[in-house]
This record gives sequence, structure tokens and C-alpha cells, in this order.
Amino acid sequence: MLCGGRMRDGGADRRPETRGCVMTGAMDTFQLSVEAAEAYEAGFVPALFAEWAPRLVEAAGVTPGQAVLDVACGTGVVARTAADRLGGQGRVVGLDLNEGMLTVAGRLRPDIEWRQGDAAALPFAPGSFDVVLCQAGLMFFPDRAAALREMARVAAAGGAVGLQVWDRLEAQAGFGAMYAAFAEHLGPEATELESAYWALGDLELTRSLLEAAGLRVTGTRTRVGTARFASAEQAVTTELDATPLAGRLDQATHRRVLAAAAEAISPFVVDGGRVELPISGHLITAAKDG
Ligand SMILES: C[S@@+](CC[C@H](N)C(=O)[O-])C[C@H]1O[C@@H](n2cnc3c(N)ncnc32)[C@H](O)[C@@H]1O
Repeated sequence: MLCGGRMRDGGADRRPETRGCVMTGAMDTFQLSVEAAEAYEAGFVPALFAEWAPRLVEAAGVTPGQAVLDVACGTGVVARTAADRLGGQGRVVGLDLNEGMLTVAGRLRPDIEWRQGDAAALPFAPGSFDVVLCQAGLMFFPDRAAALREMARVAAAGGAVGLQVWDRLEAQAGFGAMYAAFAEHLGPEATELESAYWALGDLELTRSLLEAAGLRVTGTRTRVGTARFASAEQAVTTELDATPLAGRLDQATHRRVLAAAAEAISPFVVDGGRVELPISGHLITAAKDG
């Protein structure tokens, strides 16, 4: 899935050359190179994440004068959007596990404060932020409950937490078709393709996680965005190569699955080659009551 795999040259139209999701839990298990983070910023951010950042910032009600934290900020698209909205009045901090991501974030916006750290142990005092945001991050944390407790802890009384997560796989027309092709051609092994990406799509589950962290859910909105790829092959390869299964497929099987899945998403081909897959996601806001 679009999660920061290393790409050959960067850019939305280039395919990842390794799996290399950056979504591992412990600080020492995975660090993305600066080159890979640059590729994430040049490719995946415009191809998928950029359109969700203003939606999340808007849903969480970020206004000038506030202190805002972007947890799992990656290269900082949400933090940048929040900073633009604050217009110089207030404070924005972006936090990520990955130094490479933060290097790119800092190159793009030296005026924002970037901190390395684990979402499960935020390096901030209780009540430090009016708004705590997390886009496309929570599903990858090994201890989601701890991360939410930390977000609640660093939020001020009366403050807000805003999350963006992807919807369930069953709600994804394009990715659903792709996964159905994987399942048809790979049989039981395809269950390993179950991606963390869709793991928080069940709103009731996500709501109960927030409530268990002591937060009160104030709103949920489901929106559809677009995941853009240079070709159907690129779309499928990006997904397939991000799974543990990829390394175990022989070349012939890989080719066969790729062809079948590319065919399955052919209804989403536009302009004679590019692919635009609809992708449904949730924006969930919660309050920390004082
Ligand atoms: C899909 S990216 C999303 C990045 C960014 N929010 C965006 O919208 O572009 C997920 C990010 O989560 C970060 N991450 C994964 N586990 C983390 C953890 N335990 N603590 C902090 N960041 C983490 C990764 O380094 C990566 O930058």
C-alpha cells in the first residue's frame, strides 16, 4: 500500500523498488533513508495523502493561536497544512519515529518544530497541545491503545484529537477488486495480504479505542479520496510488494497475479493508462473533557 516504500526516482509515476513500509513499531527496527523519504514526499504525498491533510485540519477545528501536534507526521503534510492555517499565530510540532522523514520535513519547512519520537511515549508534558492530529499513522503502531493514551495525555483539557484512518477493505471498490484477484490466484496465502492499512476501518472499533483512552468522540466523517498511479501495473506492484507474500512468489506466479489484479482494476484506468483508485477514509474527532 502507499506507505513509504522506496521508489526508484521518486515521483507519483515511479514504482517502489523494495517493500519498506516505515510502519514498524520500535525505534530501532526500521529507519527510512532520506532518499526514500524524499521519494515518499515527491510520490506518495501528492498521490494520496495531500488531499486528506486539509480535511483533517478542518475537521479538528485548527484555528490561529493554538498549539498543534502532528503525530507520525512523516514528511509533514498535515503539520504544514496546520501551520498555514495558524498563519504564524500559534505553535506546530511534527513528531515521527523516522529520522529520514523528519529531515525532509525540516528541509521543506524549517519554521516548524520537528521531533523524533515514538507515538507510544510522546516527549511532551501533559496538556501541551490544543489539538493533536494523526493522519494514516495509528493503524501502524504496535500499541495503538498506548499511542491514544499518549495523545490524550498531551492534549489540553478542552482540547481535541483528530485521526484519519482508512475505511474497511470491503468499502474500497478499487483496492477491494485488487485484493479479490489476489485471493483468487493465491488461495489461502492471500490472507497474508491482510494489510494493517484497513485495520481501523471499523468505526465502532476505532471509537472504542478512543473512548478507552479517555476521549469523547465528537464526530466521524467518511470521505472518498483518490489514490493515483502511473499504471495498473504500478498500482498492483505497489500493493503486492508491500506484503510479506511478495518475497515468496516465484516470478511466474508474480507475473500471473500481477496481470490478473491489473485486469481487475482496469475499470479505474483513466487517460489511457493512469489509474485512479477511489479510497475511502474516516476523519474522527474526539474531545478531552476538562
Ligand atoms: C503512512 S505514513 C503517514 C505520514 C503522514 N502522517 C502523512 O500523512 O503523510 C506513517 C508514518 O508513521 C510513522 N510511524 C510509524 N510508527 C510510528 C511510531 N510508533 N511513532 C511515531 N511515528 C511512527 C512512520 O515513520 C511514517 O512516517
